[in-house]
Amino acid sequence: MANVIVIGAQWGDEGKGKITDLLSRSADVVVRYQGGVNAGHTIVVKGQTFKLHLIPSGILYPNTDCIIGCGTVIDPQILIAELDQLKELNISTDHLLISETAHVTMPYHRLIDQASEERRGSHKIGTTGRGIGPTYADKSERTGIRVLDLMDPDGLREQLEWTINYKNVILEKLYNLPPLDPQEVIEQYLGYAERLRPHVVDTSLKISDAIQRRRNILFEGAQGTLLDLDHGTYPYVTSSNPVAGGACVGTGVGPTMIDRVIGVSKAYTTRVGEGPFPTELDGELGELLCDRGAEFGTTTGRKRRCGWFDAVIGRYAVRINGMDCMALTKLDVLDELEEIKVCVAYDIDGQRSEHFPTSSRQFARCRPIYKTLPGWKVSTTHCRTLEDLPQAALDYLKFLAELMEVPIAIVSLGASRDQTIIVEDPIHGPKRALLHPDGTPATLLSA
Ligand code: GDP
Ligand code: IMO
Ligand code: MG
Repeated sequence: MANVIVIGAQWGDEGKGKITDLLSRSADVVVRYQGGVNAGHTIVVKGQTFKLHLIPSGILYPNTDCIIGCGTVIDPQILIAELDQLKELNISTDHLLISETAHVTMPYHRLIDQASEERRGSHKIGTTGRGIGPTYADKSERTGIRVLDLMDPDGLREQLEWTINYKNVILEKLYNLPPLDPQEVIEQYLGYAERLRPHVVDTSLKISDAIQRRRNILFEGAQGTLLDLDHGTYPYVTSSNPVAGGACVGTGVGPTMIDRVIGVSKAYTTRVGEGPFPTELDGELGELLCDRGAEFGTTTGRKRRCGWFDAVIGRYAVRINGMDCMALTKLDVLDELEEIKVCVAYDIDGQRSEHFPTSSRQFARCRPIYKTLPGWKVSTTHCRTLEDLPQAALDYLKFLAELMEVPIAIVSLGASRDQTIIVEDPIHGPKRALLHPDGTPATLLSA
């Protein structure tokens, strides 16, 4: 039995969907613990592509229970569209459970998200416009609507009449937008409620029961460490806690129940939306990574900003998440390059630093200090073992593992399940903390 958390180690889109799908093979339960339909997780199985926003990436396994935990925010319209899409593809969603205490994204959240971004002008965050920030803001302000409220028609009518009239003042007076019709929204959401009702339960009880029965639970994070509300590049972050610690809060599971944390990182870096990005590449190289990596957002279709691998944020993600091992994705995207750079430290106002700064203003002034490695200039998409890799690719992986002081347990060389090298068992292999009792790096990439 092992309870594992899978997190994004960069700014999202690291390939968590692929890795979660892969690891779900040995999971009995997969739980999404934060975020909402801002997430876009792509899974490719036998040439068929699945794009998921809220439904956990374990859904393709009929015997794996999938849970949307209490730390998420749920847009019922998009969730229902996702259920319909899977049904059309003959994929059962009977094993999907939704937390009663997750918060619900309402039409006014989306409107306020988009209008406030416009009002911010050059200070905009570059959100997905899906109402995520305003939904979490209402949760904190204690004016949120929860899934259990949706399930109580009389209570919902009363609550929404008050809330929508209150939100209409903001829409009309602050943003010059037309007001919402409370009755229309109430009827719409009552319809959604009936569709979702069979899936809604106290998920924390289900998870606790699964833990007691020693079933394998995989906690699936959305977004990434640098988008974390508390630990990311604030204010250019999302409004939840994608870091491993968020998995406990977002599901109702105690930290003592977690066995392992697996980080997912690309072999380079991407970011969508605004905010500092020290290793960003403008020009031809950035375009090349974008083209070869098909770096366009799964949720918004926006072009992702691309840059070199940043080992400073990599090390930070290892620390903040207590990462045991890493899955490194999209190594194949680098196949054609003559040489590859890795940011090993920052230059901040003339001072070398190997640490991620807490101040965003300071982060914006960080200039990358690079180490240049030779490229391998052959395709790696067919490689299935470390021995299949060209020496320069192997050296690149070893260099990253040593810099971040974390073993690379999985290497991904394409979007499909089979385009993967399992270096060591990510779930049952040795824990990172136990690898270096004297503080020195041991075998970081078991080659
Ligand atoms: P997530 O949000 O972390 O799940 O990542 P996304 O699904 O938004 O973006 C990752 C993209 O890269 C998807 O289109 C995946 O199909 C694709 N992908 C995942 N792993 C690999 C890989 O190793 N190589 C290549 N070329 N594509 C990959
Ligand atoms: P997955 O799970 C990449 C980014 C947005 C924006 C910031 C805040 O697919 O990795 P929000 O709508 O959350 O208020 O936007 O966070 N962002 C993501 N970037 N992948 C994601 O999810 C993201 N979800 C949010 O682009 O910069
Ligand atoms: Mg994504």
